[in-house]
Amino acid sequence: MSDYEPKIVAFFCNWCTFTAADLAGTSRLAYPPNMKIIRMMCSGMVDPKYVLKAFLNGADGVLIGGCWPGDCHYINGNLKARRRVALLTELLKQYGIGEDRLWLRWIAASEGTMLQEVAVEMTKKLKEIGPSPLSKNHRKAI
Ligand code: FES
Repeated sequence: MSDYEPKIVAFFCNWCTFTAADLAGTSRLAYPPNMKIIRMMCSGMVDPKYVLKAFLNGADGVLIGGCWPGDCHYINGNLKARRRVALLTELLKQYGIGEDRLWLRWIAASEGTMLQEVAVEMTKKLKEIGPSPLSKNHRKAI
């Protein structure tokens, strides 16, 4: 399983975390290339169906990045995201997919370094827990 590279689908808010990813790139802060970023207008617009679909399509982890509480451009979208993630986490646990595979992080536009750290940390964690039971890599690993 040493060549296993987890696939991460990242839903990033346009106003903060997506800009942080851009900043990380322009600052030449390297982070694992296994993260596919989807730009959303707000973390509150990440429908739980998108998360489940990502897992069904083989993602090993899903990262949602939003503005810090109090900074959401749509007032409370990030707080709605937090409630949805709490429910999804419970669901992922009950379905045996694993609650550690869904992360929600607040990362402001100026926090490119934090974005890099979260990407590295999540990749490391997913390597520890192995492929998602829904991914094609799972069968190869067992
Ligand atoms: Fe960034 Fe809502 S606008 S989380």
